[in-house]
Amino acid sequence: MPKTHKLLTGLNDQQKKAVTYDEGPLLVLAGAGSGKTKVLTERVAYFIAEKKLRAENALLLTFTNKAAGEMKERVTKLTGFAPPFSGTFHSFCAKLLRIDGRAIGIPPGFLIYDEADQKDLVKQILAELNLPPDSYSPGAILHDISEAKNQMLSPAQYAELIQGDWGEAVFKVYGFYEKHLKEIGALDFDDLLIKTVILLNIPQILKKWQRVLTHIFVDEWQDTNKIQYTLTKLLVGDRKNITAVGDASQSIYSWRGADFRNINYLVRDFPNIKIINLEQNYRSTQNILNAANFVISKNTTHPILKLWTQKGEGPKIKLYAARNGFDEASFVVDKTSRLNSYKNYAFADIAVLYRTNAQSRVLEEALLHAGIPYVLVGGVRFYDRKEIKDVISYIRHLINPKDSVSKKRIEKIGIRRFEKLEEFRKDKRFGFGDADC
Ligand SMILES: Nc1ncnc2c1ncn2[C@@H]1O[C@H](COP(=O)(O)OP(=O)(O)O)[C@@H](O)[C@H]1O
Ligand SMILES: [Mg+2]
Repeated sequence: MPKTHKLLTGLNDQQKKAVTYDEGPLLVLAGAGSGKTKVLTERVAYFIAEKKLRAENALLLTFTNKAAGEMKERVTKLTGFAPPFSGTFHSFCAKLLRIDGRAIGIPPGFLIYDEADQKDLVKQILAELNLPPDSYSPGAILHDISEAKNQMLSPAQYAELIQGDWGEAVFKVYGFYEKHLKEIGALDFDDLLIKTVILLNIPQILKKWQRVLTHIFVDEWQDTNKIQYTLTKLLVGDRKNITAVGDASQSIYSWRGADFRNINYLVRDFPNIKIINLEQNYRSTQNILNAANFVISKNTTHPILKLWTQKGEGPKIKLYAARNGFDEASFVVDKTSRLNSYKNYAFADIAVLYRTNAQSRVLEEALLHAGIPYVLVGGVRFYDRKEIKDVISYIRHLINPKDSVSKKRIEKIGIRRFEKLEEFRKDKRFGFGDADC
């Protein structure tokens, strides 16, 4: 018991209620910074500490590797047990498919194609089909392929729905794309989710995983898409041990099919679900919350929570209407220099947010010109960097010489780099027995 008490201290009343609620499905709705993730992790920890749940029977799902890592670390720290099933939807699906995928013809050592691999493959197919990438953008084609996949349409089924040259091209590319993935034993991100749903439609396999994963906890529920919803519902089954936390006002993945209506569906599908609202905010001052509320309250599609804080009003928000991007950048630089010179803020204490990647160039140039050091967060992702992709392609090609996308890439990496990789391989006598995602 003392462990439990320690877990609950410092939580506000609503948070405590959410952490300890023990009678079935639970939905925690709250705005940003109100402790949703904290409640979810403390709830897992509380159930483990109270011996209502063993760490290995908990499934913790979220959307980024970073968030997943933090949740796992916190639960481990609080209870001394690391939940083995804690990760993103995609990593969880990859794990399940590596264990049981054979049942639907997926080899355990399958490769995973990320966005950049998919694009490379589509470009290769377009070239083979003599379709110019200027008229047939690989990104747009992939978008349509992804939609078809998410509606569970095979290339043949898709063919019955297409119209015009564009549809014809997507259909052709889709067919070759699927053939290629199958030949080399690879799955793309959509496949990870879709194949897992197909796998869980086998009753014995579903039963097995329902027995293992008795309690399911999902962070950022508003960002789930249809297939993630289906997957979660299958696993939850009749026991209804689901805890979902979310905020309909901050769905950030609508372009990926996220559907905040999944919050409403959850209430529809689990009519006795308990809903707890968290309205106290721990991150921002009242002025910021009021401004956010004012904007969000124009929304009519979902309930609006009124956020409040004990932090006090704080300084007023200032609005500067810039004439154009350059004016905006010079305002940011000027403000940043002043905060640094006169108010003693370190540059590392200042964040500049922008809406689209295209805006970063003007800002970056202005900062460079003024000699202000900066770090671009989330610019070129690690796995998209050329040198990283080269090494990965090299390793993939060693594992699977039929992987033509990797082969094409290695042909372009240059002799010196290739020789270095060969040297490294010989030196280390690389083995690939347990290649993982
Ligand atoms: N009861 C509380 N007392 C003090 N700090 C809290 C409390 N609840 C949440 N916080 C802090 O508020 C911040 C936001 O919490 P978090 O769980 O990340 O919110 P959300 O997931 O809703 O955005 C974190 O720094 C967290 O530690
Ligand atoms: Mg959170």
